[in-house]
Amino acid sequence: SRAHGMKITVIGTGYVGLVTGACLAEMGNHVVCLDVDARKIDILNSGGIPIHEPGLLEIVRSNAAAGRLEFTTDVARSVAHGTLQFIAVGTPPDEDGSADLQYVLAAARSIGRLMTDYKVIIDKSTVPVGTADKVRAAVADELAQRGHSGMAFSVVSNPEFLKEGAAVADFTRPDRVVVGVDEGDDRAAMLMRSLYAPFIRNRDRLLVMDIKSAEFTKYAANAMLATRISFMNELSRLAEVMGADIEAVRIGIGSDPRIGTHFLYAGAGYGGSCFPKDVKALARTAAENGLPSQMMAAVEAVNDAQKQVLARKVASVYGEDWRGKTFAVWGLAFKPNTDDMREAPSRVLLAELVRRGAQVRAYDPVAAEEAARVLALDLGCAPEQAGITLVNSATEALSGADALIIVTEWKEFRTPDFEALASALRDRRIFDGRNLYEPALMRDSGLHYLSIGRPAC
Ligand code: NAD
Ligand code: UGA
Repeated sequence: SRAHGMKITVIGTGYVGLVTGACLAEMGNHVVCLDVDARKIDILNSGGIPIHEPGLLEIVRSNAAAGRLEFTTDVARSVAHGTLQFIAVGTPPDEDGSADLQYVLAAARSIGRLMTDYKVIIDKSTVPVGTADKVRAAVADELAQRGHSGMAFSVVSNPEFLKEGAAVADFTRPDRVVVGVDEGDDRAAMLMRSLYAPFIRNRDRLLVMDIKSAEFTKYAANAMLATRISFMNELSRLAEVMGADIEAVRIGIGSDPRIGTHFLYAGAGYGGSCFPKDVKALARTAAENGLPSQMMAAVEAVNDAQKQVLARKVASVYGEDWRGKTFAVWGLAFKPNTDDMREAPSRVLLAELVRRGAQVRAYDPVAAEEAARVLALDLGCAPEQAGITLVNSATEALSGADALIIVTEWKEFRTPDFEALASALRDRRIFDGRNLYEPALMRDSGLHYLSIGRPAC
């Protein structure tokens, strides 16, 4: 480990905060992670982690054991500790779609209330352009109230681009690190450069820019990615009615380096804690600035419709009334390798299955517990009472089912025994929201197969 590790505090121990804290500790820094949620801190202090994220438990444990990574609910302690204070709390959508900054500003105020020496306050949360100014004002206000207006601090924007399910890899080997600093704030710029140096072999991957551009870059990136997905989803509907295959088209366009192969998969709609909320927030910002975004409105509308695509396909076969039918559902998390259920397309499907009176046997490799929690909220009753049984294996889900619906592309769903599937499913039918299988192979196995943007068979 490096001898000159920095003292770092991370406020908010969710997906981003915990990964940031653990990965910075791994590079030899001394990190204290703060959360207001005592349950999370208890889990972390007893050697567990509150989320499912590949590779994270190992680095949390080893760095905690080495004394470089600590977890606390004690604000005074956390403010005293770090020269660098990361704010990594949630920024959920407000009623009007704009980002709710109350947690960010509460964190900023707690720093201003308690700091006794120079701090770099780093906005890691996804926040609208202008938030750094609000953070600065909140800290300055607290300092003024204590009669410490002269105490120096810097505010930095350092948006995070990690993906859930690959968070540790993304953080440790970033495509780029964006750092927004005030012009002339060499002290903060220098600290940020040395903090990230161990993660960036290629120096031009550290992009230092002005704060507003850094804040805006985060929304631009997520909006661009969400736009690609909605565009492919829209094309997939057209492909379907015309008899083209969106998978062939995807490969056909992705080989052009100007387009690129990533994030071109049509599917059951994008979910997760970020694309939906960031698209909304950008739309809101645009409207507030007198430039309503037609693009963002369309991206959102296409996605809302796409989350209905599986239910629509089921209705195309079974009509409007699904009473007496039993459906196996594979995959509940919004994407593989996470237990995150936020805005998951499975929730829209399950609500529709329940509404139309179907019985459901659902399986997810890791999200079952989280699914039970959010479904109870969505449905207003325990999932079992609504006809949803959460089972412990993919095979168990098939028992007694008429058809299978695939919502999330977990690896273990990629190569099932098709003969066994055909004999287990009463109607020998699969609705695939992630295009996991070759239609021709399905036909040969005697299965009816409806997927996204490809001819039915
Ligand atoms: P999260 O909900 O998983 O975690 C946020 C945590 O902050 C919670 O544990 C909460 O208890 C804690 N918290 C709230 N107020 C606090 C306070 N005053 N002091 C201490 N702790 C406090 O959120 P997340 O998914 O980690 O996202 C955090 C931010 O990062 C959001 O702005 C999000 O848009 C952004 N982001 C998320 C991802 C992702 O993949 N999840 C990726 C990039 C950016
Ligand atoms: C996304 C971005 O990829 C990250 O760079 C960003 O940091 C993060 O949001 C954030 O700001 O929080 P994440 O939501 O974790 O990461 O997951 P993605 O892999 O982007 O998937 C988002 C959704 O899009 C999933 O529901 C996924 O199924 C869907 N998707 C993704 C598609 O439908 N098609 C694709 O080609 C790719």
